[in-house]
Amino acid sequence: MRKPVIAGNWKMYKTLSEAVDTALALKPLVANANHCEVVIAPVFTAIKIVSDRLEGSNIKVAGQDCSTQTEEGAHTGEVLASMLRDVGARYVIVGHSERRQFYSETDAEVNKKTQAGVASGLTVIVCAGETLDQREQGSAESVVSQQLNGGLSGLTASDLDRIIVAYEPVWAIGTGRTATPEQAQEMHAFIRRVFAERHSKETGEALRILYGGSVKPDNMAGLMSQPDIDGALVGGASLKAESFSGIVNYRR
Ligand code: PGA
Repeated sequence: MRKPVIAGNWKMYKTLSEAVDTALALKPLVANANHCEVVIAPVFTAIKIVSDRLEGSNIKVAGQDCSTQTEEGAHTGEVLASMLRDVGARYVIVGHSERRQFYSETDAEVNKKTQAGVASGLTVIVCAGETLDQREQGSAESVVSQQLNGGLSGLTASDLDRIIVAYEPVWAIGTGRTATPEQAQEMHAFIRRVFAERHSKETGEALRILYGGSVKPDNMAGLMSQPDIDGALVGGASLKAESFSGIVNYRR
């Protein structure tokens, strides 16, 4: 049985006090959510205080990115995956389309970040997704498999225990335009097949694949009714405790 993961990506939003307030407001609202792992990803500067304030709760904290480096050194502005773990993060998101699009992140960099995250004992949420143009040209599957093959190259089957894939079609992120449950299911089943072929049937079956892109409390149940959708990576609707808890506690 794959345990669903419902992760909120707060992106570059919230002051320190807003981050703490949201996290504390969320805590009682999801306290009974034993059906899934609940994760929130605040900005780097808020990770420590948010994870301290959530200690003992069922909410875990993620970084939104990490360095490609694996050892400390003269790399101004970078944060090691092990440093995220040191301040309480247990997950890290890598390869988000905003990083690929606005910071020219490559699959090779995503791969290094993924390896660094796994080596530091973090669970790594690796994002992949096609643009609208790519979908319309019929290349969505090849784009996603290329991103995942590149981003996950060199990882062993046991490393894959620490990997979660997030399928996030770029055209659905922050646009209010969600992929239909059927469109998402089709891609999730494809991703699972790719992993089964590359590794083993068991590895494919065990892999958790999240959907991301305009997930809201009212479309979550439809997405989760699909057999290969194992949770969600939520942006905008994770910023408020009420809407994020509505997603976590979707009617099953
Ligand atoms: P969204 O963002 O839910 O606001 O579309 C999803 C994401 O970027 O992870």
